[in-house]
Amino acid sequence: MPRERRTPTDVPDQRGRTAVITGASSGIGLDTARVLAARGATVVLAVRDMDKGARARAGILDAVPPAWLVVQRMDLASLDSVRAAAEELRATHPRLDLRINNAGVMHAKGGQPPTASSCASPTTWATSP
Ligand SMILES: NC(=O)c1ccc[n+]([C@@H]2O[C@H](COP(=O)([O-])OP(=O)(O)OC[C@H]3O[C@@H](n4cnc5c(N)ncnc54)[C@H](OP(=O)(O)O)[C@@H]3O)[C@@H](O)[C@H]2O)c1
Repeated sequence: MPRERRTPTDVPDQRGRTAVITGASSGIGLDTARVLAARGATVVLAVRDMDKGARARAGILDAVPPAWLVVQRMDLASLDSVRAAAEELRATHPRLDLRINNAGVMHAKGGQPPTASSCASPTTWATSP
């Protein structure tokens, strides 16, 4: 059965909605953030590196002014970081409509295959959806 090809123009109006995207500092997450922002969503860029997040935000603002963008620190390899981010989001956003679990790594640092994870050991298991 042929697959229907979809493009950003198929994304419906997102005004009034808030989306959280993990790993929005690069790659698919950044493109997704750009598209949702262009469709009017408030977009939370949930990132582990705040400098990269700020650069991602600036890049989207260049392409899509005006856009409603928030950079939120969230390192998925640390449950403490995830809990802290959840608390901050709960306090700052009355509603969240869309959660996109995009962040992921194919291999742990150094190209090592995945191993058991812990908060102190950020690996593929800890990070990927
Ligand atoms: N591209 C493909 O062909 C493909 C195919 C199948 C599945 N996928 C999946 O699609 C997702 C996005 O892929 P991509 O190609 O866009 O990958 P990417 O360019 O490597 O982006 C991955 C994103 O995840 C973030 N990330 C990594 N570890 C994190 C952590 N501990 N906490 C928070 N964020 C973290 C990265 O942040 P930093 O910028 O700080 O590194 C980056 O923003 C991944 O889950 C990947 O496994 C991709």
